[in-house]
Order: sequence, then C-alpha cells, then structure tokens
Amino acid sequence: MAPVKAAILGFGTVGQGIYTIVNERKQQLEKTIGSPIEIAAILVRDLDKTRPETPGVLITDRFEDILSIPDLKVVFEAIVGEEPARTYLEQAIAQGCHVVTANKVMYAKAAPALERQAREQGTGVGYEATVAGGVPVIKTIGNLNLTNEVTGIQGILNGTSNFILTKMRKESCTFEDALKEAQELGYAEADPTNDVSGFDAFCKLMILSGLSFGEQPDWENVPMEGIDSLSLEEVTDADRQGLRYRHIADVRRGEDGSIQASVGPVLIGPDHPLYGIDGVDNAVAIETAYAGTLTVIGPGAGMLPTASVMVEDAAVKLREHATFRELVTRS
Ligand code: NDP
Ligand code: HSE
Repeated sequence: MAPVKAAILGFGTVGQGIYTIVNERKQQLEKTIGSPIEIAAILVRDLDKTRPETPGVLITDRFEDILSIPDLKVVFEAIVGEEPARTYLEQAIAQGCHVVTANKVMYAKAAPALERQAREQGTGVGYEATVAGGVPVIKTIGNLNLTNEVTGIQGILNGTSNFILTKMRKESCTFEDALKEAQELGYAEADPTNDVSGFDAFCKLMILSGLSFGEQPDWENVPMEGIDSLSLEEVTDADRQGLRYRHIADVRRGEDGSIQASVGPVLIGPDHPLYGIDGVDNAVAIETAYAGTLTVIGPGAGMLPTASVMVEDAAVKLREHATFRELVTRS
C-alpha cells in the first residue's frame, strides 16, 4: 500500500514528538490503518534554527508548500496561538485533509466552525491533545455523551501550574525556579503567561464545556485566576495545616440552565478527589447521570504523552475512513 502522507505544522516539543512516534510506530500504525504513515513535510517559522535530523522530509516556512504535497491526507498542528493556526486548518480541511491539533487557544474559539467544515468535507478533526496532554478526556466524554449525560466537570488542567505548586510545597522551591524547570522539561509554553495566569486552563475548560454541554459560558463572566497570585509562604503554610492549593477549573449547568464556570487556585483538604494529584499530572473528575464521578488522571503535558494522543487521533480518523471506503466498495 502507498503510504498515507502527513505534514506537521510546528517542530518544537510537540511536533518533534509526533515525528518520533510516527517513525517508531510505523508497523503498528500500518496494521491499524492498512498503510504506513509518512511525514512528508514540516512547517517551521525560523528555517535557520538547529533541529533534529529528518531525512527526506521537506522543511519549509511557507504553508503553500505544505498544501502542494500531492495526496496529503493528514495535517498535525502544533504551533502557538489562534492565528495563523486556524486559517491553516481551514485551508487543510478545504483540501480534504484530516486535521489534528494540540492548540487549545485556537480550538477554544474555532471548534464549532472547524468541526462543521470538516463534517461538510467528509474529513475529521482530532483534538484530544488540546486538553490535559496525554489524558484521554475527550474520548471519555465523547463516549459518555452517546447515552449517559455529563452534569459537571472539575479538573486540574494545567500541568505547569500543578508542577510548580508541587515543587513549592514539597521542596520549598521558588515560583521562578519551578517555572524554569517546567520550561526546560517542555511542559510550559514558550511564553508561560497563559500557564500561570489561568488562561491555558480556561481555554481547555471552554473546550470541555462545548463538548459536554454543547455550549460555552460567556467568556467575560467566567472568574479566572492563576497560580501567579500565590506566594511560597501561602503554599507552605497550607501544607503545614494539611491543606493544599490546587489550580481547579470547574464547569456545570446551573439550576437556571445556564453554564457556570470558574478557574483559579482553591485550598482543599485530604478528602478532596484532586488532593493527591502531584507534579505535571492533570486529573479530570467527570460527574455523570448514570455512572457517578469518573476521574481520569495522567501526564497533562510533555512531548511524548501529548504527541501520542495526536497520532492516535490521526489513526482513528484514517481507520474510520478506510472502513468507510471498504464498505462503499463492497456495496
Ligand atoms: P514550541 O514552542 O516548543 O514549538 C512551537 C513550534 O511552532 C516551533 O517549531 C515554531 O517554529 C512553530 N511555530 C510557531 N508559530 C508558527 C507560525 N506562525 N508558523 C510556522 N511555525 C510556527 O511549542 P510546543 O510544541 O510546546 O506546543 C505546540 C502547541 O501544542 C501549542 O499550541 C501548545 O499550547 C500545545 N500543547 C503543548 C503541550 C506541551 O506539553 N508542550 C501539550 C499540549 C498542547 P520555530 O521552531 O521555527 O520557532
Ligand atoms: N503548557 C501546558 C500545560 C501544556 O502546562 O498544561 C499542555 O497543554
């Protein structure tokens, strides 16, 4: 079988993880999809940066070059911010590609339009990596939505914030030193403002709200605070009293039917389900009508956890299409 051609937009932490996994898992992917995946091209901003070797792959700073790849089927998007990411994905979908994104700032706004466009084009959008890194929260809620009902969500959605709070509490590490380590480990954004101000968790919460309730609250009415408001003394004093600060994002439908949400640091005790979640881990407690509260926990950031769910998303979309083609051919 001829390989399925894919492109990666962005070759930083996440983009490099995608390249690694697609190459390390060639045979497994071929078994899943029916043909191997080949990374044909990579989009970067700065062509002069030193990067890992990618033999035979076109490296370009022009998106037109990506769209010119013959028979391009999948576009992985791992760049930063709303634009040009949104426009690139619109163009890729218009050309019949499946798209897979990790970019929550873009997707929190663009989800309904991109999903509609993809449905009309008969392609798919994968966005598991936009929320909670390697934790399969989108799949879980998507499945629950088939028959059950999600009534509320409470989670730790920013790995960098949880990593910093854990280092402050356990090692009396300063905020600045802990943030520096989170950046070195590839957890924090290149500009970490969104991580520590709460906006990164806010965008993820908006994506979960859209998925769970079919709508988002009015962004202006959601109280949002980051861990940058906490001092080392506050964190260590709380620990001495057996309490912990956690950065918690919460969304639910209120009694009047409106969507209520909040994002910020909360002081919790040992009986709280998010008390024991340490380091870069994220946890999402999903309250349901029929199954009580289900909590998914795992690495909320990092190269391979994030990239692995993106490659899974692509494999699922390609497998669905292969099955569909087979059914059409048989009938
Ligand atoms: P990095 O900063 O490590 O890499 C970003 C890459 O995107 C760089 O290669 C950069 O190019 C490229 N890029 C940025 N803007 C443009 C542009 N306008 N045109 C072309 N290329 C561009 O980021 P990450 O890999 O950490 O994150 C990528 C995305 O994934 C972000 O949206 C992030 O929020 C999200 N994400 C990150 C996770 C993580 O653990 N790091 C986890 C989940 C999601 P150049 O190298 O030339 O500067
Ligand atoms: N910077 C983000 C975090 C990456 O720390 O959670 C995962 O979205």
